[in-house]
Amino acid sequence: MTMLEVEGLVKHFPVRGGILNRIQGKVHAVNGVSFSINEGETLGVVGESGCGKSTLGKTVIRLLEATDGRVVLKGKDITMLGPNEMMPFRRKMQIIFQDPYSSLNPRMTIAGHLKEAIRFHKIVEQGEAEDKYIDELMTKVGLRPDAKNKYPHEFSGGQRQRIGIARALAVKPDFVVADEPVSALDVSIQAQVLNIMTDLKDDFGLTMMFISHDLKVVEHFCDRILVMYLGYVVEELESHADAPPIAEQAQHPYTQALLGANPIDDPDDRRPLTVLQGDVPSPFNPPTGCPFQTRCPKVVDQCKREMPPLELKSGGHRAACWIVE
Ligand SMILES: Nc1ncnc2c1ncn2[C@@H]1O[C@H](COP(=O)(O)OP(=O)(O)O)[C@@H](O)[C@H]1O
Ligand SMILES: [Mg+2]
Repeated sequence: MTMLEVEGLVKHFPVRGGILNRIQGKVHAVNGVSFSINEGETLGVVGESGCGKSTLGKTVIRLLEATDGRVVLKGKDITMLGPNEMMPFRRKMQIIFQDPYSSLNPRMTIAGHLKEAIRFHKIVEQGEAEDKYIDELMTKVGLRPDAKNKYPHEFSGGQRQRIGIARALAVKPDFVVADEPVSALDVSIQAQVLNIMTDLKDDFGLTMMFISHDLKVVEHFCDRILVMYLGYVVEELESHADAPPIAEQAQHPYTQALLGANPIDDPDDRRPLTVLQGDVPSPFNPPTGCPFQTRCPKVVDQCKREMPPLELKSGGHRAACWIVE
């Protein structure tokens, strides 16, 4: 069953300036992204910093209002719902941030944070049931229940991320956006947090959007991957257990370049690495034609003039590139 359908989602941020504070242009953060996620599935979103991943995640769960497009959760179009109608859907869609510390109140205990979410959405009765529920949540994310009376600064980065996860799960969401949940953590801690998330995904039957700039992390954690560049999806990949390795599937020069940035572990693999040159162009002033044409090692004339559509290619999945057959 389809959990989430996103159609033609656009998010532009107006940019003001000058003496009169007029709109001078807009940041094209997300430019018409469509996808669907089945119940229980984890969709990865990958791309360099500034490609619109966080904006996409926040617009999907309506932390940001879409400029255009539709979001349908379990068959219900939530794009235009007012605050009251939106309330039950707020609970159903949660987000885990890269840095949970900035979203935790330094003067509130962990139990306080969890109670706030639980009471707001009336998940369990106050009192004994609530205490028990909080202890269970703490245990599920790998924290000792007696740590619930501590304050955020008393925890390590990895523990804080577990708290962020517990808070998101406390309200029994159907859909969770995890926005670079391990990117701020030490590599040794990343694996622990990812393992906890894998267990919880099965335990809670979660449907997720998992955002990362690291293709290796998404490859292991997700069933399917969207590769984003300058607000566009440029390639879709399969990454469930039966899919061939990403390195074999990648057809888009941008995805291949991202793989070059995470060289493959096999020393016998002597394919030349495409290394990404220069910065991502500004989404305030995007290039004409293909968004990747300014950095693409395989660029041809057509790329400079026309935007390639995201279409099914010979490799069996969709990519947006004029030179991919
Ligand atoms: N509130 C905002 N106002 C203006 N521009 C924004 C805002 N939020 C993000 N952007 C811009 O949108 C683009 C995409 O940002 P973001 O979604 O954070 O990318 P990512 O998560 O892939 O790093 C960036 O150029 C960023 O500067
Ligand atoms: Mg981001």
